Amino acid sequence: MQVLFNDLAAQYHAIRTEVDGALKQVLHSGWYVGGEQVHTFEAEFAKQCGVAHAVGLGNATDGLFLALQALNIQPGDEVITPAWSWISSAEVITRCGARVVFADVEPDTFNVSAKAIEQKITPKTKAIIAVHLYGKMAAIKAIKELCDAHKLSLIEDCSQAHFAESSAGKVGTVGDCGVFSFYPTKNLGAFGDAGCLITNNEALALKIRRLANHGGLTKDEHLFVGTNSRLDSLQAAILKVKLNYVSSWTATRKEFATTYFNLLKNVSEVTMPHFDEPAAHVFHLFVIRAQKREELRAFLSQQGIQTLIHYPTALPFEPAYAYLNYTKDDFPVAAQLQQEVVSLPLHPFLSQEQIEYVCRAVISFYGD
Ligand SMILES: Cc1ncc(COP(=O)(O)O)c(C=O)c1O
Repeated sequence: MQVLFNDLAAQYHAIRTEVDGALKQVLHSGWYVGGEQVHTFEAEFAKQCGVAHAVGLGNATDGLFLALQALNIQPGDEVITPAWSWISSAEVITRCGARVVFADVEPDTFNVSAKAIEQKITPKTKAIIAVHLYGKMAAIKAIKELCDAHKLSLIEDCSQAHFAESSAGKVGTVGDCGVFSFYPTKNLGAFGDAGCLITNNEALALKIRRLANHGGLTKDEHLFVGTNSRLDSLQAAILKVKLNYVSSWTATRKEFATTYFNLLKNVSEVTMPHFDEPAAHVFHLFVIRAQKREELRAFLSQQGIQTLIHYPTALPFEPAYAYLNYTKDDFPVAAQLQQEVVSLPLHPFLSQEQIEYVCRAVISFYGD
């Protein structure tokens, strides 16, 4: 049996008639950047996220960077972000000229706690970028309270957690703004790069909209130096179609996650991901911590099962941050995770049989 890690072609075929129709409409309209498709997508996305404003962007990395710029983060400022994440949530801080300050994550949730952030706060700290990693919401209520107490801005990186919701509220709505990636493999993905920023702060939304469009809302307005990071009309049209399917795709992800939990819970060599509030995890990825990880991956590969590592190297130990001279003792959890994590296949176009097949393979590898 083959178990692909992702199957974007299968996703396209499942909704092909609608997607083709939407694409044709845009192609015939002659309007390919911004315009009606983008406006209606933004309105619908904002509504589903439960916020007043959504600003379509070229990608989430730009969204995080523009959020820092709009929140006036300057060289000399410090911004705290998890040591364990995709590179974007750190590199945007460095690109801003600010100092990236890493906080280690929790070994069970993979997310950063308010306590770990608090230990890194100095008089120079100006903002926090919290990441809702793998689809699980971070402890955003406690992080927000900490930000309020220290007068810090809070940016939520929601790139892996579309429509997650905890007792603190919907993802992306607790901080000053939330940033989403629509990279094709995300729970809501375009057919190329795309992203979005959401906020209830009208002034912030306007600033981001201008920053992403050469400093203006109209063609010849350049109030300040901006950039070009706009959402394409074709991508917006695709995203609008897919928006109608995300909740059922997420439900399927959760069903498969439940199967993994049920069938692998007794494998002592495997640590399952933390899962408490059901709505607060949308299972973008199903990441376990596994003993003998490389051997396990090789065994699964022989059985036709694709796995990936998210991530092979924790951010403080990346060559890009070698100049900070961190050692594994500085971030012990992240250092351990980079040796143990493995992402099992979990996407809505798999079947229960395939998930059970993966579980049987894991169990037989460990000989349980
Ligand atoms: C946590 C996180 N932040 C940011 C990004 C950046 O998204 P984009 O590729 O749209 O720039 C990603 C994408 O993988 C991500 O996973």
